[in-house]
Amino acid sequence: MKHFLKLLDLSTEEILELLDLADLLKSYVKEGKPHPFLQGKTLGMIFEKSSTRTRVSFETGMYQLGGHALFISAKDSQVGRGEPTEDTARVLSRYLDGIMIRTFDQEEVEKLAEYGSIPIINGLTDFCHPCQVMADLQTIREHKGKLTGLKMCFIGDGNNMANSLIVGGLKVGMSVSIGCPKNYQPDQRVLDFAAAYGDQFQMTDDVMEAAKGADVILTDVWASMGQEEEKQMREAAFAGFQVNSQMMAVANKDCMVLHCLPAHRGEEITADVFEAHADEIFDEAENRLHAQKAILVKLMGGRK
Ligand code: CP
Ligand code: NVA
Repeated sequence: MKHFLKLLDLSTEEILELLDLADLLKSYVKEGKPHPFLQGKTLGMIFEKSSTRTRVSFETGMYQLGGHALFISAKDSQVGRGEPTEDTARVLSRYLDGIMIRTFDQEEVEKLAEYGSIPIINGLTDFCHPCQVMADLQTIREHKGKLTGLKMCFIGDGNNMANSLIVGGLKVGMSVSIGCPKNYQPDQRVLDFAAAYGDQFQMTDDVMEAAKGADVILTDVWASMGQEEEKQMREAAFAGFQVNSQMMAVANKDCMVLHCLPAHRGEEITADVFEAHADEIFDEAENRLHAQKAILVKLMGGRK
């Protein structure tokens, strides 16, 4: 594994190996055991969109691994003034040991990997959010003791989260159902990938059908970063695509609820369902740290 650009690139074995490493690194943090596997290494973090979790967890993760993280805001660097990605990639490769990038176009991330000579990590694009889904899988396995055979259900926009959940969920042997409006379906490349999984994948605009018998229900905002101007139109389109107590009643007993955050209570999820599952949701947020440290260690060396 040279880069971490999208889950479509990873094998099941690679995903599971990262999850095992994430669990190990989490245990080191809990035991207070030093684990400076990236001593002397620097990660550059390019942000073309806002972030709380991704920025803080990557920066803290690098520190815990004995390395250093550098925040590069698109606004204050030449990235935001249009310097070609091909050049940014080659320049930053001369200074850094790895780059994490959050941007709009998946092509930009792929181009960084093509032109640079250091590992590239995708910290969210319009196409996918693979770091988040590694944390989600880690959280589900922690709470349920397994992944294979569980039913994962995603309610809402067929966005970057839906795309990564479908690929990640299917690759680790979960069945995946998507409840989304007809005009907001996941990316065609992901639907083509899922088609090979037959009945293990389901997509419907009937949210109750999607949630029936689910072991974990996930949702995300109706308007993602960059879609703020469509908010009103989206609110109309997504009315009814909400995780609420009626939906929980058709899911399995002990069904988990996860949300990548930030959450909009009263829109994609009700406040009562959110609070009833807050422990799971904040475990999920914490696991960003551990899952990403596994990715960093795997890609930037020092161990394994
Ligand atoms: N879930 C997530 O990626 O959060 P941030 O946008 O705060 O990084
Ligand atoms: N779909 C959301 C996820 C935020 C973590 C967005 O792209 O804004």
